[in-house]
Parts: sequence; C-alpha cells; structure tokens
Amino acid sequence: MSFSSRHHDFSDKPAAYGELARELTSLLAGERDLIANAANTAALIFQALPQVNWAGFYFLKDGELVVGPFQGKPACVRIALGRGVCGSAAAERRTLLVPDVHAFPGHIACDEASRSELVVPLLKGPRLLGVLDLDSPVAARFDAEDAAGLEALAAIFLAHVETAAATAA
Ligand code: SME
Repeated sequence: MSFSSRHHDFSDKPAAYGELARELTSLLAGERDLIANAANTAALIFQALPQVNWAGFYFLKDGELVVGPFQGKPACVRIALGRGVCGSAAAERRTLLVPDVHAFPGHIACDEASRSELVVPLLKGPRLLGVLDLDSPVAARFDAEDAAGLEALAAIFLAHVETAAATAA
C-alpha cells in the first residue's frame, strides 16, 4: 500500500478531508497499536496538508500532556493541563482554533515560525487520551472546515486504538 503526498486539492476542503479520511481508515485498518497508528496519522496529515509546520500528538500521562508521535521540529515534551493551546483544549475538552498564537495568552512557542494553531481533544467516550495538534506558519491558516476535517480524522484514529493501550487520567 502506498500513499502519495500533497495530492489533495484543498480548494474544496470538505472533499479533500473526505479523501483523507478514507486514506486514514485504510492506513490504520487492522492495526490497534497506539504509537504505530499515531505515527502514521501524524505523517499522513503532515504530508497532505499545505502550510503546516507541525502535526502530531500529545498524550495524557499522569495528569499532564506528554509529546507523542509527530512531524515537524522537536517540540516541548510536557504541557500541564490548562497551559498553552494544547493544555487549554485538553482541559476544556473542546477544539481550539487559534488564528494568531501571539494573541493567545500562555501560548507555548515550540517553533518560532508558528503563527496559527488547531488543537483537537482526543476523547474516547468520557476518557481524555490527549490532543491532536497542528501548527502553521501562516496566520489564520485554519478555519471551521479544517476543524471539522481534523475532528473527523481524530475520530478515525480513536476508533483504531485500544482504550486499554492508552494512558489516561
Ligand atoms: N503551541 C502549543 C505547544 C505545542 S507545539 O505547538 C508543538 C501550545 O501552546 O500548547
């Protein structure tokens, strides 16, 4: 099975995310390993989405977020719940769309180039597993269609992990 990169036409975002959802479903089929599936999910998103400089996971471990598989520059390892965009999305259990990270109180700058950010909480039923985080060097890169598309991809990822394999608080 091979996956070509950056062939999606994001001028029609819902259609592009629909294609990506089908590719992710196929990529994760038959596999339940958390790290393997997180790594391939991050790689697929990073390769497919234009103007993204970081895509990956933070998982909740012993009450704080710890970086997981990702694509992009090395990132800060631990983020307390309620801190930064990731910690806020996790604590509030809702998707956060930040058009200008410099205007977000407490934003944690892992890559100085990042200007906008989208963070989707990973909820397996009532359990918070972590977050899916995307950064862009372009201000206001993400909109409601990106949020919906990434939430759909996060749901596919969550459907392919064993609850017991994930560490949650
Ligand atoms: N900017 C994030 C930190 C994670 S990095 O972007 C990879 C935040 O404020 O939570």
